Amino acid sequence: MFVPKILFCLFIKCSINIKPQIVKLETCLQQANISYATQQSPIWSNLTAPYNLRLSYTPALVVLPTTDQQVGQSISCSAKESFKVQPKGGGHSYTSFSLGGQDGIAVVSMENFNEIEVDQTTFIAKIGAGQRLGNVALGIHEQGKRGLPHGTCPGVGIGGHATHGGYGYDSRLWGLALDTIFGLDVVFANGSIIYANETQNPDVYFAMRGAGDSFGIVTNFYMQTNEAPETVTYFTANLNETLKSIDQLTSAFLRTQDFVINSPLLTKNISFGFYTDNSGALSITGMCMFCNTTFFKETVFPALTEGVTPFPGSINITDLSWLDTLQVLAGADPLAEPLDGYNIHDTFYAKSVVTKEAEPLTEEAVRNFWEYIISKTNINTPPSFSIINLYGAQDSQINVPSPSASAYSDRESLWVFQNYGYTANHALPWDSRIIPLIDGLNAAIGNSQPTGNFSAYSKYIDPELTATQAAEQYFGPKTHDKLLRLKTELDPGFVFWNPQAVRNSGLLSLPPDELEDYQANYE
Ligand SMILES: Cc1cc2nc3c(=O)[nH]c(=O)nc-3n(C[C@H](O)[C@H](O)[C@H](O)COP(=O)(O)OP(=O)(O)OC[C@H]3O[C@@H](n4cnc5c(N)ncnc54)[C@H](O)[C@@H]3O)c2cc1C
Ligand SMILES: *[C@@H]1O[C@H](CO)[C@@H](O)[C@H](O)[C@H]1NC(C)=O
Ligand SMILES: *[C@@H]1O[C@H](CO)[C@@H](O)[C@H](O)[C@H]1NC(C)=O
Ligand SMILES: *[C@@H]1O[C@H](CO)[C@@H](O)[C@H](O)[C@H]1NC(C)=O
Ligand SMILES: *[C@@H]1O[C@H](CO)[C@@H](O)[C@H](O)[C@H]1NC(C)=O
Ligand SMILES: *[C@@H]1O[C@H](CO)[C@@H](O)[C@H](O)[C@H]1NC(C)=O
Ligand SMILES: *[C@@H]1O[C@H](CO)[C@@H](O)[C@H](O)[C@H]1NC(C)=O
Ligand SMILES: *[C@@H]1O[C@H](CO)[C@@H](O)[C@H](O)[C@H]1NC(C)=O
Ligand SMILES: *[C@@H]1O[C@H](CO)[C@@H](O)[C@H](O)[C@H]1NC(C)=O
Ligand SMILES: *[C@@H]1O[C@H](CO)[C@@H](O)[C@H](O)[C@H]1NC(C)=O
Repeated sequence: MFVPKILFCLFIKCSINIKPQIVKLETCLQQANISYATQQSPIWSNLTAPYNLRLSYTPALVVLPTTDQQVGQSISCSAKESFKVQPKGGGHSYTSFSLGGQDGIAVVSMENFNEIEVDQTTFIAKIGAGQRLGNVALGIHEQGKRGLPHGTCPGVGIGGHATHGGYGYDSRLWGLALDTIFGLDVVFANGSIIYANETQNPDVYFAMRGAGDSFGIVTNFYMQTNEAPETVTYFTANLNETLKSIDQLTSAFLRTQDFVINSPLLTKNISFGFYTDNSGALSITGMCMFCNTTFFKETVFPALTEGVTPFPGSINITDLSWLDTLQVLAGADPLAEPLDGYNIHDTFYAKSVVTKEAEPLTEEAVRNFWEYIISKTNINTPPSFSIINLYGAQDSQINVPSPSASAYSDRESLWVFQNYGYTANHALPWDSRIIPLIDGLNAAIGNSQPTGNFSAYSKYIDPELTATQAAEQYFGPKTHDKLLRLKTELDPGFVFWNPQAVRNSGLLSLPPDELEDYQANYE
C-alpha cells in the first residue's frame, strides 16, 4: 500500500521515541482540562477493544472530550505533537479505523456526545455523534413517534453509520441514514467549529456525508425524522429447500430480480434481503411500510418469491409495531445500549459487491455465486454468510439524490452483497482459511460479469483494499478527485488519517503510470 513519506517517517520516529510526544500531548490536554485515558488507565482495554478482534491497534491515547470546544482542542493538541487523529463513535468499523487502523493514533472518543432531541415543529432530531442506533430509535420514537432509516444492529454508532451510508429495511422508502442529514456540527483539523448544511459550508456538507472520517469530527447530527408507521408488515421465510437445486435457485433469483425491476407490485415501501450461509441456510426477510398486509400476503409476497420453495410452515407475514419490528430485526440485542461498557465482539473479514441498476445480474453471475455457496456448504470450512440487500429498483429513494449531492455517490445500485467470514466461536485465534474463502466468494459474483461495473460499499469497509482501490470502489474518480481537492484545502496537515483516508490514494483521473509518478512525488 502507498503510504506518504511523511507519515512513514512519523511512524518510525514514533516507534523509537513515542513517550516524550505522548507526554507533551498529555500536558496539552491537561492544560485544556480535557479527560483522556492512557495505557495505564483502568478503562483502557475497554476503550480500545475493537468490535472486530482480528484488527487490534494500540492508540497513543484516547481523548474523552465533553464539548465541541474540547473536541477542537483535542485535535489541535494532537496535531501540534504530530499525532494523526480518528474519531470513535460506536466502534463498529469492520477495519477498526476508529482506533486508527494503525498503532500510535490519537483517538477522540465521542461517547459523551449523547443528546437526542426532536424539535417538535420541524421534527429535525439533534443527535449526539456518540449515540448508538438502538438508543436513537427509542429516543426519537418517544418524542412524537418519529423514525429514521438505519441499520438493524442497535449497538452500531450513529457516528460511523451516518457518515458512510446507513442502510435499513426502511431505506427504499426513506433513503439512507446519510440522506436524512439536514445539517452537522463539525470540528475541523485546525480545531475550528462550524455548522454545515446544503447552503452553509456546502463542501463540508458534501464531504462529511460519505467521507467524514477524512474531513472532520461530527459532534451533532441534525436529521430529518419521519412519522413512524403504527404497524409494519414484517415478513420472513425459510427458503433453504431451494439450495438443493442450483438450476431452481438460479432461475428463482433471476425471477425475483425481474420482479423488482419490472413489477408494479414492488413499491418503494418494500425493502428486503436474502441471507445465506455455508451451513445450508437461505432465507428472505424484509418489511413493507404503510402497507395493506392482507394484500401483501395474498398478492405481493407470492409474486416476489415465485420460484423458490419455502420450508413448510416457515412463511411469517405479520403486523408488528414499529419498535417491535426494530427489536425483531435486532435479534438478541436489546434496543437500549450502553454508550460505554459495550462489550460485544466478533472476529471476521468481510467484502462487498455493489451491482448496478443498468446492469442486472446475468444468469452466469447468479449461477457462479450460488455454485460457490453450495460448493462450500457443510465441508468443514470456517463459517461464512452473505446478505444480499435490495438497494435500488424503480423508485427506491436511495437512488433519488444526485450522485454529486454527497461523497456517498452511488445512486444507481441494485443489489448489495455483503460477504462475511468469521471464526467459529467469534473469538481469536484467527483462522487463515477465512480470507481466501471470502475472497473467492466475492470474486464468484464480482468477477462473473465484466461489464457489470460493480463497486463496493464503504460501510462494509474492506481492509484488503489499497487506498487507491478503496477510492475507486467506494467513490469513483469524479467524487474521489473532488474529495482529494477538498482534503488538501480543509485538512492540509493530513491530521485525519486511516489507511484508506482520502489522500493516501492520489488523483484517480490520471492514467496508471502518471498516478504512480504523482504518488512517488506526492509529499
Ligand atoms: C454488527 C454490525 C451490524 C451492522 N449493520 C449494518 C446495517 O444494517 N446497515 C449498514 O448500513 N451498516 C451496517 N453496519 C456497518 C456500520 O454501519 C459501520 O461499521 C459503521 O461505520 C459503524 O459506525 P460506528 O460509529 O459504530 O463505528 P466507528 O468504528 O466508531 O467508526 C467508523 C468510522 O467512522 C468514523 N467516525 C465515527 N464517528 C465519527 C464522527 N463523529 N465524525 C466523523 N467520523 C466518525 C471513524 O473514525 C471510523 O473511521 C454494521 C456493522 C456491524 C459491526
Ligand atoms: C475541569 O473540568 C472539571 C470537570 O471535568 C471541572 O469540574 C473543573 O471545574 C474544570 N476546571 C477548570 C479550571 O476549568
Ligand atoms: C443553512 O443554515 C443557515 C444557518 O443556520 C440557514 O440560514 C440556511 O437557511 C440553512 N440552509 C438550508 C438549505 O436549510
Ligand atoms: C431447513 O430449515 C429447517 C428449519 O429450520 C431445518 O429443519 C432443515 O434441516 C433445513 N434443511 C437443510 C437442508 O438444511
Ligand atoms: C407507501 O408509504 C406511503 C407513506 O410514506 C403511503 O402514503 C403509501 O400509501 C404507501 N404505498 C403503498 C403502495 O403501500
Ligand atoms: C387490503 O387488501 C385486501 C386484499 O386485496 C382488500 O380486500 C382490502 O379491502 C384492503 N384493505 C384496505 C383497507 O384497503
Ligand atoms: C412471526 O414473527 C414474529 C416476529 O418474530 C413472531 O413474534 C411471531 O411469533 C411469528 N409467528 C409465527 C407464526 O411464527
Ligand atoms: C471490560 O473489558 C473486560 C476485559 O477486557 C471485560 O471482561 C469486561 O466485561 C469489560 N467491561 C465492560 C463494561 O465492557
Ligand atoms: C460505471 O459507473 C460509473 C459511476 O458509478 C459511471 O460513471 C460509468 O459511466 C459506468 N461505466 C460504464 C461502462 O457503464
Ligand atoms: C480552519 O480551517 C478552515 C477550513 O480550511 C478555515 O475556513 C478556517 O479559516 C480555519 N480557521 C483558522 C482559525 O485558521
